[in-house]
Amino acid sequence: MMPDPKPSHSQSYPDTDGYFGQFGGNHYPPEVRPALEELRSTYEELRQSPDFQHALDKARIGLQGRPTPVHYLENISNQVGGARIFVKREDLNHTGAHKINHCVGFALLAKKMGKTKLIAETGAGQHGVALATAAAYFGLECEVHMGGVDVGKQSSNVGRMQLLGAQVVSATAGQSALKEASDSAFDSYAKQHEHALYAIGSAIGPHPFPMIVRDFQAVVGQEAREQFLSITDGSLPDHVVACVAGGSNAMGMYSGFIDDSEVVLHAVEPLGKSDQLGQHAATLSYGRPGTLHGARSVVLQEDDGTPAQVSSVASGLVYPGIGPEMALLHETGRISVARISDEEVISTFFRMAKFEGIIPALESAHALAFAIQLASQRPSSERILVNLSGRGDKDVDYVLENYGTG
Ligand SMILES: Cc1ncc(COP(=O)(O)O)c(C=O)c1O
Repeated sequence: MMPDPKPSHSQSYPDTDGYFGQFGGNHYPPEVRPALEELRSTYEELRQSPDFQHALDKARIGLQGRPTPVHYLENISNQVGGARIFVKREDLNHTGAHKINHCVGFALLAKKMGKTKLIAETGAGQHGVALATAAAYFGLECEVHMGGVDVGKQSSNVGRMQLLGAQVVSATAGQSALKEASDSAFDSYAKQHEHALYAIGSAIGPHPFPMIVRDFQAVVGQEAREQFLSITDGSLPDHVVACVAGGSNAMGMYSGFIDDSEVVLHAVEPLGKSDQLGQHAATLSYGRPGTLHGARSVVLQEDDGTPAQVSSVASGLVYPGIGPEMALLHETGRISVARISDEEVISTFFRMAKFEGIIPALESAHALAFAIQLASQRPSSERILVNLSGRGDKDVDYVLENYGTG
C-alpha cells in the first residue's frame, strides 16, 4: 500500500481547537462562544455541499467578475531590468478589492444559518463596501463600524456603503482607526449574535474566523497558480508578494503556493513614517506575542501590554495585530517579512499610474514597491507574482490633496 500523502498546510491548520501552532484559539467572551461554534459547524457542513459551492460560484462569476487575470507589468519590469513582475488583478473585482471574496462567502453562510444581518469593521472602507454589496445581493441588513478618522479620509466609501443600504457607525474611541472600529463592531455583535453574523474583515479574530476567511480567499491563489502555470508554460513564480494588515489577501494568495517550498513567500508591512513605535504598523517585524480581538497572535504593544498606536498612509493597514496563521508562518520561517515606508508607497502609486495605467490601492502599493525593489536585486530569469489586492480610486482625493499629481 502507498503511504498516505503528506497533508497540505491548510489541512494541517488550524487544529481542532482553532490553533495555528501556539497562535489562534478562541479568546472571546464565553457568552458568544456558542454562536461561534454554530458558525464553525455550519461552515464545516456547508463547505462540502455542492449547492453552497454552486451559489458561491454564481456570485463570484456574475456579481464579482471572477476570474481576475494575472498580468505582466512589462513597462516597469523593463525599466528595472531585473526579475519580471506579474500581478494578480484583484483590483478588478467588483467593489475594487479582494475583500469581496470572503464577503460573499459570509453573506451566503448567514443566509443558510437563517441570520438577517451582517456586522463588520472596516479600515479603508473596502471591506465595508464589499460587505454592503454582498448584503444587498443576498437580501441582508448590514452594519459597518469605521474609525472616525477613516470616515473623513475615505468619505466616498462611506457614501457607497450608505447607497448600498448599510448603516455606517463611526468609532470615535482612542485612535479612531481600524482597531477601534473592530472593538466597536465586536461589542455590537455580542449584543446581536442571535440574528446577526459577524463578517470579519481579515484573517483575524477568534476561531473559526481566520480559517473561514483564508478558505474563502483561497480562490485568489488557486486561480493565480493555474494562470501563472499557463502563462509561463508550466513554471511557478520564484517569489509571491502580498501586503499585510490582518492577512486576508496574503493568506488567499499564499494558499496557491504554500506547499511549494521553492516559492519564496513575502509579507510586506507598513513602515509608515519610521521604525519608532507609534509611527508604523509593522506587527510581525516589531510586535511580540499577545492577545487581540479574541485570538493569540503577535501584537504591537506598549511596555504595559496595551496595543500600540499605529500609523500608515494606507488606512487598511493601520492595525496593531495580525492573523494567527501569519504569525505561525513567520515563526516557522515559511514567510519572509519586508517593510515599506509611506514615502516609497506614494512614489510607487505614481509610478504604477504613469507607466502601467493602473492606480493601485495604497495598501497594495506596499507590495508593489517591495516587488520593484526585489526585482532590481534579482536576475531576469526570475519571476515575481504580486497580489494587487485593490484599486486606488478611494485614495485619489487624499493623494491629490497631500502629494499632488506626482
Ligand atoms: C486593498 C486592500 N489591500 C489589503 C488590505 C489589508 O488587509 P489584509 O491584510 O486583510 O489583506 C486592505 C484592508 O483594508 C485593503 O483594502
